[in-house]
Amino acid sequence: MSLAKRAYHHVFQILSSLLMIFLFLDCQASRQYHFVVKEAPYTRLCSTKNILTVNGKFPGPTLRAYKGDTVFVKVHNKGKHNITIHWYVRHGVKVPRNPWSDGPEYITQCPIQPGASFNQKVTFSTEEGTVWWHAHSDWARATVHGAIIVYPKIGTSYPFPKPHREIPLILGEWWKRDVMQVLKEFIRTGGAPNVSDALTINGQPGDLYNCSRSGTFKLLVDQNKTYLLRMVNAAMNTILFFSVANHNLTLVGADASYTKPLTTDYIAISPGQSVDALLVTNQNPGLYYMAARAYSTGVNVSFDNTTTTAIVQYNGSDNTSTPIFPYLPYYNDTKSAFNFITRLRSLADRDHPIYVPLNISTKIVSTVSINTFPCPENRSCEGPNGTRLAASMNNISFVTPRQIDVLEAYYFHINGVVRKDFPTFPPLLFNFTADYLPLELEIPKRGTRVRVLEYGSTVEVVFQGTNLVAGIDHPMHLHGYSFFVVGYGFGNFDEERDKLGYNLIDPPLLNTVTVPKNGWATIRFAANNPGVWFLHCHLERHLTWGMETVFIVKNGDDAVAKLLPRPIDMPPC
Ligand code: C2O
Ligand code: CU
Repeated sequence: MSLAKRAYHHVFQILSSLLMIFLFLDCQASRQYHFVVKEAPYTRLCSTKNILTVNGKFPGPTLRAYKGDTVFVKVHNKGKHNITIHWYVRHGVKVPRNPWSDGPEYITQCPIQPGASFNQKVTFSTEEGTVWWHAHSDWARATVHGAIIVYPKIGTSYPFPKPHREIPLILGEWWKRDVMQVLKEFIRTGGAPNVSDALTINGQPGDLYNCSRSGTFKLLVDQNKTYLLRMVNAAMNTILFFSVANHNLTLVGADASYTKPLTTDYIAISPGQSVDALLVTNQNPGLYYMAARAYSTGVNVSFDNTTTTAIVQYNGSDNTSTPIFPYLPYYNDTKSAFNFITRLRSLADRDHPIYVPLNISTKIVSTVSINTFPCPENRSCEGPNGTRLAASMNNISFVTPRQIDVLEAYYFHINGVVRKDFPTFPPLLFNFTADYLPLELEIPKRGTRVRVLEYGSTVEVVFQGTNLVAGIDHPMHLHGYSFFVVGYGFGNFDEERDKLGYNLIDPPLLNTVTVPKNGWATIRFAANNPGVWFLHCHLERHLTWGMETVFIVKNGDDAVAKLLPRPIDMPPC
């Protein structure tokens, strides 16, 4: 070898080992993600507007992890408004105690201000399947959201045959207007918000809307294969029915817990929820629509009654033909919605045992109601009969603090931020689900009233829907936990009678429960995750109106049963 060649060889060797080191570092660093929240122009329904995105994407990036992983996501706010991001992780027994990264603004953190950033630590300790992340400040989550896929731990596998491919399907809602303006306007007028102009699948309205055909999401499939649909309902205000023409779906998971396989020709999915469903391509090659539209039961409650579509396209089929359209239940078909919802069961097999609390130490019953406030003097209000619309739990319309967050106030023992007297039972007893209710029952109290739970207590919460103003279904979501949904029913909850029907064997383990219109739902969980946890309706307008409270779960005695120390880089107020 000549001297020059030798030197060249040497340099090459050094370079390649540097490359190896770099790759190694990169691989270590890949657990650190960067979410840059910034505006980007998007065109839908024949018009262009700037929307808030993560890394310029809508829907935002999909996070992938294995069960047990911890990832860091540094959120950089390059937008014009405050922002926070919430992750659907419930913190199992091993790495709980970290509400600091949970995200809801003024509940567990002050928002990240424009120009600032915040590194959030997210541990997937017990979930397996599909969950999601979304902005948790004002209405930013309309466009700032994405899927999280948690794979089984290396060396373990799905409790069903390995699918050929997996497909994230994110259902959403699109407004032609700036969503911040929609929010500002209905807060100002006291009326209901504008309904969205389109529903979307993976950010696309689909063939049935103007100027949307070319963007329609297409799923190219091979015949006789199994596809795992990883579906999230990221819509703001709309529970959805979804189905695929000529194909059944087999549900295998919900809210990142495995379910007994459930074969169905449609599903109902509430904002906040996610499902894993298998689609077997056992039909003749061709084009088949997937479609979603609203499930909405409120009388005189307007909703987006459009239909979004995407296309399942078999390889080798004639793609100029018109796709076949699926059956979808009618908008107010409560029977179909709950026929599906109440069929969900935890898998609960030997490899996936569940522990349903049987002895309950803490019972809470809470109404969930739409309300009205009288219009302030010298103003005009656009709620029913000139009132301002509101919402409440146990007749308390929650007031969100604006100077400090609830977690910080709790952690530093700052008085005067919250009152710890959220009612254990409805303060007013009446026939909650009667057709006509006296108007004075419509007016709630305002307050930042939270409920403190003992560490290790076993908690049962009954959500009781009411027919005040407009009875409607409410998807209630609890942060920091998954809970067992042990029962659902219509009418007024009657403990003696209704507890007999509870499923304590294989109830589904969810993070969002759909409380039926003029009915009730009961959840159970063990309060083993200390922290400050938001509990709210996941219909965004109801959240804005005050249908929420906070559970503060106290520390236990063990060192591992205490809140983690406050990270030093928490965003300041
Ligand atoms: Cu999907 Cu409080 O959140
Ligand atoms: Cu609601």
